[in-house]
Amino acid sequence: MNLFQDKIKQLSHPPLPKRGKEEIKVLVDQLMDKMTLREKIGQLYQAAPEDAHIEGLHFDDSHATAQSIKEGLCGSILGIHTPENAYQLQKIAVEESRLGIPLFFGLDIIHGCRTTFPINLAMSCSFDPERIEEASRIAAKESAHTGINLTFSPMVDVVRDPRWGRVMESNGEDSYLSRILGRAYIRGYQQGDLSDNTSIGACVKHFAGYGAVEAGREYNTVDMSDRHLRMYHLPAYKSCVDEDCAGVMASFNVINGVPASCNRYLLTDILRNEWQYKGFVISDYTSTFEIMNHKITTDKKEVAKLCLHAGLDHEMVSTHYITYLEELVKENEVSVQTIEKSCRRILTFKYQLGLFDNPYKNIYDDPEQYMRLPEYRKAALEMAKRSIVLLKNDNQVLPLSRDKKIALIGPAAKTNHVVGGWGGLGRIEECISFSTGMENHGYQIAAHEGCSFEGSDNDGRLMEEAYQLAQDSDVILLAIGEPDSLTGEASSRSALGLTGRQLELAEKLKKLNKPMIGVIFTGRPLDLSWCAVHLDGLILGWYLGNETGNALASVISGEYNPSGRLTISFPRNVGQIPVYYNQLPTGRPSSTGGPGDLFKSCYTDIPNSPLYPFGYGLSYTTFAYSNLSLSTDCITGEEEAVISADITNTGNYPGKIISQLFIEALSFSVSRPVKEFKGFCHTDLEAGETKTVQFAITRDTLSYLNINNEMTPENRTYKIYVGSDSTTKNYLLLKYELSEVPKTNL
Ligand code: NOJ
Repeated sequence: MNLFQDKIKQLSHPPLPKRGKEEIKVLVDQLMDKMTLREKIGQLYQAAPEDAHIEGLHFDDSHATAQSIKEGLCGSILGIHTPENAYQLQKIAVEESRLGIPLFFGLDIIHGCRTTFPINLAMSCSFDPERIEEASRIAAKESAHTGINLTFSPMVDVVRDPRWGRVMESNGEDSYLSRILGRAYIRGYQQGDLSDNTSIGACVKHFAGYGAVEAGREYNTVDMSDRHLRMYHLPAYKSCVDEDCAGVMASFNVINGVPASCNRYLLTDILRNEWQYKGFVISDYTSTFEIMNHKITTDKKEVAKLCLHAGLDHEMVSTHYITYLEELVKENEVSVQTIEKSCRRILTFKYQLGLFDNPYKNIYDDPEQYMRLPEYRKAALEMAKRSIVLLKNDNQVLPLSRDKKIALIGPAAKTNHVVGGWGGLGRIEECISFSTGMENHGYQIAAHEGCSFEGSDNDGRLMEEAYQLAQDSDVILLAIGEPDSLTGEASSRSALGLTGRQLELAEKLKKLNKPMIGVIFTGRPLDLSWCAVHLDGLILGWYLGNETGNALASVISGEYNPSGRLTISFPRNVGQIPVYYNQLPTGRPSSTGGPGDLFKSCYTDIPNSPLYPFGYGLSYTTFAYSNLSLSTDCITGEEEAVISADITNTGNYPGKIISQLFIEALSFSVSRPVKEFKGFCHTDLEAGETKTVQFAITRDTLSYLNINNEMTPENRTYKIYVGSDSTTKNYLLLKYELSEVPKTNL
């Protein structure tokens, strides 16, 4: 038995006192009065021990030893996975350091802790903030019993380049949606009360613009205009700040020439001064050290000075602050007050969490009993079903009846490696594979991998076996895509096809002339052009976490009628990237959309449109919009217009439709996108049923950063669209009049 288990058993977890802002401020001031400068600097460091055993603690860096915790030279810890390890380190901090200041523990819990939910990009396709809040609430409840106090989530980077492996962590290409979903994550983690025993802090990332790394290459440069940054990238971080996220993580990238970790414009001018952000700012993993690789300086001491002055409070893993700040103070290069500001923010977070009331608040001797409760698994299944997007269903090949003989072929057929990147504390053995899910749903299947994801089965033996097996089937389910190891950080790809020999496998099976349905396992938009032409049905299965197989089977059987909608465009090929719905118009728009519309903005070889656009998704039923109407044709000032539309389920199944609101300014003082997403709502309809959907249009809906850098509508006419994806053509015209400008100016 572990030396510490007995001690952990004795810990109690009473509800903690709720302390107001003023009270916490006084407590922090009192504590800071007792702290030496060195101890204050110590709070600005996050260590990442590899293996936190009390005997022989192995830390990456000599500063982050048990000894330095004792000396008060460490404020928090990254990457602890067990209550035992958290307990050992916390005990040193509270019992052996001079002032007993507790540590906080941070970990990446981004789409579930032990109960794993679909990858975030998949969840965004549900367009369902309530369920996302529920998913992060469950993640917080599980995490809060394993020693974790802070998660590095949500990631609200807006993404337009699927070569970047981290698109899987995002909410897709639209900033309005990411704003809404980002807030939902934070509500779930924090519940508006960090002191609750089941809350954890949320650290939004990666500030700023990390989703726009050039060529989709990880850790690469970002360069964009201030208007672009403010219109598309900043709003989602800002909404997380408005939701009171505990932390903000500065990103790895250089943005407009300055690394985010020492970017004063971002970290102070925007975050602190414009947005009045009160929480702490943490670097990304060694991103401060990397400032030297960006060739901003060759001097580590200078790194410390630059970052602190820029507004970075907490250094993850790198040790410039704890090594050089004291010296910099002596040299009058850095003021004690600047250090104190940062220290105050870290201590405030610890008081908000209640760690001074109970430093062991998240440490439990038997965390198992809080994990994977039946209601959590149910929520994970529901979320997984809603994340699936039906891309193609020719001749209603789906749903599949149970009397069909099914060959389930492909590297994703039987695997339970279905969590996707950043799987938290999830376990592979607790995931339902596709084949198991199909069996659970009463299907008779013959499953075979057909080939590996990597293409290592060069002799073609697996392919031949799968081919033989499929000969005897009525229908082939093809479980293909990219492996889950290619989703997440450091997984940039230059090609977006099916990996290995999967395309060859698909082509071979196609020769059997049987109905073939692709189920795509992926963390990003892949090039599905072959599948879109040659397969009869196409289901986007992403990586769906614990309940993968059950969720897929319930869609395949029709028990759940698919309702997910794409939040990121799927390109026709890599050369089309970036392709996204809200592009700016060009001076020579192509009326045909290409290819080959001479001297118009288009390609010679493919259409401009993506293979599958933002908002797209099919259902087993069909829907039709009618009676589009506006409550008025002109609004002014703060007035509101309401657009409504009737929506009818014109097919044979009950189904859910996610209606989407878009606007388009017919003119403006700066060029605006061809469409801007502004709202959505879910409607459940029985076959034949009609309901009315309504959206309010306000000044806010029509606003854009104009030529004078004011966020405002202008006296213009706007198209207001309601439809089922970003290609919708149903619109009505609405005028806006600024109340302060005379009507004659129109
Ligand atoms: C690096 C990643 O960029 C970031 O997203 C993550 O939170 C940190 N490592 C900590 O694991």
